[in-house]
Amino acid sequence: MKKILFVTGSLALMAAMVSCGGTRREEGRAYMPDMSYSRAYESYASTQALDKAGVNYTAKPVEGTIARGEMAAYPFKNDSTGYARSAEVKNPLDSASLDPKEAERLFLVNCAICHGPKLDGNGPLWASGVFPVAPRNLVGDPLMLAMAEGTMFHSVTYGRNTMGSYASQLSTKQRWQVIAYVKAQQAKKTAAAPAPAAAAKDSTKAVVK
Ligand code: HEC
Repeated sequence: MKKILFVTGSLALMAAMVSCGGTRREEGRAYMPDMSYSRAYESYASTQALDKAGVNYTAKPVEGTIARGEMAAYPFKNDSTGYARSAEVKNPLDSASLDPKEAERLFLVNCAICHGPKLDGNGPLWASGVFPVAPRNLVGDPLMLAMAEGTMFHSVTYGRNTMGSYASQLSTKQRWQVIAYVKAQQAKKTAAAPAPAAAAKDSTKAVVK
């Protein structure tokens, strides 16, 4: 018994010594080759071979290119002319393609932190006193009630002063959904209680009568 133990012990020791010695030049077996070797082109690798083959690898897509299934691009640039003309653009979503639940969710996730879940401009970030500029009261500010949906879309797409752009967080369709939600909430609010300007007009009428 002792002999067997001694023999297997020394064999194991020899195997261990042999396997540790020398320089291995083969990398051995790759268990998952897809994970060991990237099929993607290296970002900084020369693309000469691709260029020769006529593959335009590093070029940007042609301006105005939109992804499959994506809505048509917004036509105006981020400048004062674009802002002025933004009111011409109408929400391309019809009532059938609007999803009010989803639109509300998108608003609460992306906008309510500043504009507030009630859209009154009193979101938790503003209330905390950390944010330097008051977010707009989307349902009480007459300027916001009068604002065209296209202009809202312009501002949400490109950002407006201290408010950032939402073009990278929300797709074109999602941005239009959110704007439709804001407009619907405005309509609800003004139906429930007339806007301050309208109320003032009514009261003068009452006085004239
Ligand atoms: C980080 C805070 C913040 C978030 C988040 C935010 N806003 Fe604003 N928003 C502001 C501020 C501040 C202004 C006022 C900007 C100004 O004119 O100085 C503003 C202005 C606006 C305006 C008026 C734009 C104009 O042209 O005058 C609209 C409409 C608006 N926000 C909608 C949204 C919507 C919709 C979202 C969500 C997608 C959103 N905001 C998210 C802070 C925010």
